[in-house]
Amino acid sequence: MNKNNAKIKFYSGEDIPLELHKVRVVQKLHLVPIERRLAALHEGGFNTFRLSTLDVFLDMLTDSGTNAMSDKQVAAMMQADDAYAGSQSFARLQKAAEDVLKKKYLLPVHQGRAAENILAIAYIKEKGDLIPMNYHFTTALAHITQYGGRIVELLYDEAYNISSQHPFKGNMNIEKLDAVIKETGAAHIPFIRMEASTNLIGGQPFSIQNLRDVRKIADKYGVRLVLDASLLGENAYLVIQREPEFANATMAEVIATMTGLADIVYFSARKLSSSRGGGICTNDLAISRELEAFVPLFEGFLTYGGISVREIEAMAVGLYETLDESMICQSPQYIAYLVNELVAKGVPMVTPPGVLGAHVDAMRVCAHIPQTQYPAGALAAAFYLISGVRGMERGSVSNQRDEDGNETYADMELLRLAVPRRVFTLSQIKYVADRMTWLYENRNLIGGLKFVYEPPVLRFFMGGLAPVSDWPEKLIAKFKKDFGDSL
Ligand code: F0G
Repeated sequence: MNKNNAKIKFYSGEDIPLELHKVRVVQKLHLVPIERRLAALHEGGFNTFRLSTLDVFLDMLTDSGTNAMSDKQVAAMMQADDAYAGSQSFARLQKAAEDVLKKKYLLPVHQGRAAENILAIAYIKEKGDLIPMNYHFTTALAHITQYGGRIVELLYDEAYNISSQHPFKGNMNIEKLDAVIKETGAAHIPFIRMEASTNLIGGQPFSIQNLRDVRKIADKYGVRLVLDASLLGENAYLVIQREPEFANATMAEVIATMTGLADIVYFSARKLSSSRGGGICTNDLAISRELEAFVPLFEGFLTYGGISVREIEAMAVGLYETLDESMICQSPQYIAYLVNELVAKGVPMVTPPGVLGAHVDAMRVCAHIPQTQYPAGALAAAFYLISGVRGMERGSVSNQRDEDGNETYADMELLRLAVPRRVFTLSQIKYVADRMTWLYENRNLIGGLKFVYEPPVLRFFMGGLAPVSDWPEKLIAKFKKDFGDSL
């Protein structure tokens, strides 16, 4: 792939990302008045998941299923082969998985969490079985605990330092991994899980050297190594940027090196290949057979796995496009731009800039709000109120209660502002930086939230909250004072 495209210099010296695509299909957005935004928050329980897109201006909730598709992906969807069994669309996807991920056997699943469900049911044999991982993802944890398993998160201390400059905060703590397996006994470790670009700590990558070290421990104890490859492309891009050994490597080489170190690779195609669906792949026939039985049970026949054939075609093309550094670099470069703009204004952000989105440190922005009143949820609601931009709470609201029903407070209280691939323009990103800077300067007006409806599982999706005081009205009054009748 053309590495020269990855960074283009301006004569003026200005350091801004340049789009290497053009826009051919557009969607109108809705920037509704601030009073309507407050009403929408009340209707949606101050939970940004529950907002209607009719009330959302820039949708930075997630990159999941919202990355822009390429013309080639859309074109491929038109040649889909509708067949329950033996579809040629699936054959094309299988070939793409073999070419890009270098795995022979592919089990299709309807999205990433379905892969997590299958891995958990297949491999958690006894209550208390332990799955070491660099860090949990919400759905991975929910499936593991659903089947009686436990997890342990083994990051280095640096990962919890929000304003660190460490290039690989997603690295697994190798010494701790060795000690945990020794202490627990390999028989009670169904697998080790490595998540590419560790989502919940700010989209932070691991290095290939670290993955090699994890592989050594997996071999030492005879434990399977599972790679969550949902954000693999961006992790590979940051390896090229930050790990000197790979400075001249291609995306294809880096991706093959990473997947080659894992026994099982699973992914959300909603992220990895800018489409919808998911997959589990391996080169080990025995593993494929073990997992295969669950696909018809939960997903669908083995040549569609609950995914529409049209999406399977888009997935296949999207997998190949993951090898294009000039495409993959777009989201991380925009994120870096946004993070650097906000850091320059004094807003506490997760650094170094990672992937998926820019992450605001709500623990510091809302230092006056106790964790019992969900500072990241409050910041997400406040930011939507004053900008129409929908981010996602990644803090204690996203945590689940422990076995005894007690709250577990998150290590980090973050507001994630997702930057899906090739969706936003630079002026939109500048608007986000502008409004966040204003909110930071008026942060003392943000107040806490309390639960009024709390679902028992994955409560952050549909939970309902309410402000603990009339702080939203006070924030609106200040907004009107500073912005007049601007939306
Ligand atoms: N693993 C990772 C690292 C993820 O980020 C996600 C989803 C999944 C697994 C589950 O995949 O949604 O297809 O079932 N992350 C989305 C997000 C939801 O917004 O970060 P899924």
